[in-house]
Amino acid sequence: MKFIEKVVLITGGAQGIGKATAKKFLQEGASVVICDYDESAGKTALKDLNDEKLDFFKVNVTESSQIDEMVQAIIEKHGRIDILINNAGITLDGFLTKMHESDWERVISINLTGVFKCTKAVAPIMLQQGSGVILNASSVVGIYGNIGQTNYAATKAGVIGLTKSWAKEFGPKGIRVNAVAPGFIETGMTAAVPDKVLNLMKEKTPLKKLGKPEDIAAAYLFLASEDANYINGTVLSVDGGLVI
Ligand SMILES: NC(=O)c1ccc[n+]([C@@H]2O[C@H](COP(=O)([O-])OP(=O)(O)OC[C@H]3O[C@@H](n4cnc5c(N)ncnc54)[C@H](O)[C@@H]3O)[C@@H](O)[C@H]2O)c1
Repeated sequence: MKFIEKVVLITGGAQGIGKATAKKFLQEGASVVICDYDESAGKTALKDLNDEKLDFFKVNVTESSQIDEMVQAIIEKHGRIDILINNAGITLDGFLTKMHESDWERVISINLTGVFKCTKAVAPIMLQQGSGVILNASSVVGIYGNIGQTNYAATKAGVIGLTKSWAKEFGPKGIRVNAVAPGFIETGMTAAVPDKVLNLMKEKTPLKKLGKPEDIAAAYLFLASEDANYINGTVLSVDGGLVI
């Protein structure tokens, strides 16, 4: 029980990696808040995880007012936020020449500006506490780029920039900031990727398999723990050794 009395906020926590991460932190004794813009998935997650220390808020990470209301409600209930996991993200893939500006803008607004807005809302609380951990979802695609993912790759590379900047800005105040760069993980997000591409990625992965949401959850748990207390500003690849 490494996280007793810790309060964890996970964006996009209703499904996939976020939900698996919520489960792991609950198992370690934390109070967990998941937020998601998919209300029905959020309610299902509440039912599935079935834990009185879990709360769900319907929040779109592009909407500052919704984020602020949630943060205020968390502070009223718990008085603190120890760990923020900026996990919410989407893909809207397409070759550059066919990519609509709206697809570019939507992915930027959720995957990059959403991380900015959530962190801007939570950081003052952590600064007041003099402690905290911020973990951001990057991707193997943010490191190496990927065909058909101009918008997504830009956001995931951007997240690395945010992570390193905040590690410098907040490190002296007792707040660690790191990113996780997953490879191809079996979730709803990759369910949309054609089998041909997934098989190619499996082939290119030295471990010859896709990752599971729990593999990424374990990385978040480690980076949030005291075991990682000298790890700051890093990007932890959890990709089976994949180089794309
Ligand atoms: N699955 C992978 O292979 C993979 C690889 C690298 C990085 N990632 C990153 O990990 C994170 C989680 O991905 P996943 O595979 O679990 O995806 P997922 O689609 O299973 O889950 C993402 C969750 O985020 C929520 N969400 C999306 N936009 C939102 C918004 N504007 N406001 C609030 N919630 C929102 C969705 O409703 C969903 O519940 C994402 O940031 C993704 O880019 C995933």
